[in-house]
Amino acid sequence: MRTHYNTEVSENDIGKEVKLCGWVNSRRDHGGVVFIDLRDKTGLIQLVCDPNDNEEAWKLADSVRDEFVLVAKGKVRPRGEGLENPNLKTGTIEVVVNELIIENKSLPMPFDLGDKRVNEEIKLKYRYLELRTKESLEIFKLRSKAAIAARNALDELGFLEVETPVLTKSTPEGARDYLVPSRVHNGEFYALPQSPQLFKQLLMVGGFDRYFQIAKCFRDEDLRADRQPEFTQIDVEMSFCTQEDVIKVAEHLLYNIFKACGKEIEKSFKRISYNEAMEKYGSDKPDLRYDLSMVDVIDIFERSSNEIFSSIAKDKAHNRIKALKVPNGDNIFSKRQMKGFEDYVRKFGAKGLGYFQMKEEGLKGPLTKFFTEDDLNEIIKVCDIKVGDVVFFGAGDKKVVLDYMGRFRIYLAELMDIVPKDEFNFVWVVDFPMFEIEDGKVKALHHPFTMPKDLNKENLEEISSIAYDIVLNGVELGGGSIRIHKEEIQNEIFKLLGISEEEAQEKFGFLLEALKFGAPPHGGFAIGFDRLIMLLSGAEGIRDVIAFPKTQKAQCLLTSAPSEVDSEQLKELGLRIRKTGEIK
Ligand code: AMO
Repeated sequence: MRTHYNTEVSENDIGKEVKLCGWVNSRRDHGGVVFIDLRDKTGLIQLVCDPNDNEEAWKLADSVRDEFVLVAKGKVRPRGEGLENPNLKTGTIEVVVNELIIENKSLPMPFDLGDKRVNEEIKLKYRYLELRTKESLEIFKLRSKAAIAARNALDELGFLEVETPVLTKSTPEGARDYLVPSRVHNGEFYALPQSPQLFKQLLMVGGFDRYFQIAKCFRDEDLRADRQPEFTQIDVEMSFCTQEDVIKVAEHLLYNIFKACGKEIEKSFKRISYNEAMEKYGSDKPDLRYDLSMVDVIDIFERSSNEIFSSIAKDKAHNRIKALKVPNGDNIFSKRQMKGFEDYVRKFGAKGLGYFQMKEEGLKGPLTKFFTEDDLNEIIKVCDIKVGDVVFFGAGDKKVVLDYMGRFRIYLAELMDIVPKDEFNFVWVVDFPMFEIEDGKVKALHHPFTMPKDLNKENLEEISSIAYDIVLNGVELGGGSIRIHKEEIQNEIFKLLGISEEEAQEKFGFLLEALKFGAPPHGGFAIGFDRLIMLLSGAEGIRDVIAFPKTQKAQCLLTSAPSEVDSEQLKELGLRIRKTGEIK
């Protein structure tokens, strides 16, 4: 219907007739002449409807309102002297309309497009209107570029794009499954995949050697700013590979995606062990854009005359005493803020928050009386404390201390505004433990198909696995592992996880069977594509980068999903609804 997209029209077209299509971005009436900013996906151009040029078009233009859909024909001319708009690509020209068609009207907008303060619920209900904003369009252009770059990069490396089923059996990635009842087999359910994990492993048994997929994954879990119930992964698997091979592919992939999106990143990323990440940053996804890290001071505190500290310090296997130095903190933080810090860490299980301030005359603070001069000097040395610095201490159960000190580290960095905004800081976290024990229950830290390094350890928590995560700016961007390709090891892991032989057969019999038919060594990874686009585009949350996202409560406000279904459908499925409250 058009001769040009709006911003393709330029001064070179002056005097030519063009035909343009789009939406009314704004309309102004200046002394009987109507000016319309017409918008299409490329941007804006000014239409002029003057009764002296074409009375019919001018009359119609008088009736148009914001977001009406127009087709306009007219002649390009330069704007008058001093009337140029330097903010527009087409700011030096305008189109004098000689034929105007109103293709469609629009109701007034339910909210100001692009207004950041608008309630999120309204924006999600009218998501297609929010998508009309430039910010949204830019995000989806980037998303498309990134997907195409990922496909090209993996294609060049010989990876085959294969689709795997969406109606399937449960794959354990640690969340609840979304279930789909079967009509043909009443009482039986499909599960939507939490990831294509088991299918990609089966493709390796199938001899495909290198697989990838931009895959939809479904997880029924508590939602956060970087979590959606339905999200996308760039999922990759390869055969006859080591951890190094997989890491190289992931780095190559990310490098190419970022390059296609106009960002230069390093070709290979630094690495840190899971243990070091936890001990220094209190997180398995450390944000290394700023230089705050924890130091172990448990040995020094063991010598203190404070009984609480010295007794905590005695159990080094289960407890931690960590120091977090904030350079110049003594000059930055007010007394009130220091008090507030303690309230902050208490929310995450801290019993208190000790601190020292470094004055000209030495360390000061309520705790100094418990230490000898030598030990205070030792603290100054190991924490590298300078005059004006503050050092905070966390003491207690290892897991609790690392967690709240890790959160406190992020909290302080944000408070002090020391987080660089335009940096992409990648780090591989490697050498994950195979298991974690939560409330006495053994769980796989990654997933149960991860290859352990050495199973011959008495303490399950000491067994490490060949698993790795990619962290970008403190966000877990992706993860993967070398997989178990031998049935006996897989059975052993199920056993250690407390999964009975019967249950293993029932849930994963197909995998165990496939491993008996010459499964090759294999491994892979998956990158959270939505998170990647969120970080690449600088969007505030994951919802901004998903065309039709769900709310925090997993609802789609646009379609009103989930919703009740009619009784006929339920009957066919052999289902009767009882609200959770009614079920004993
Ligand atoms: P994992 O469970 O770590 O690994 O998921 C890989 C990446 O997917 C992203 N992600 C999410 N993004 C948005 N919303 C969610 N709810 C969500 N959950 C996960 C994260 C995460 O790093 N099969 C394995 C991969 C493998 O071992 O190859 C897997 O799914 O960015």
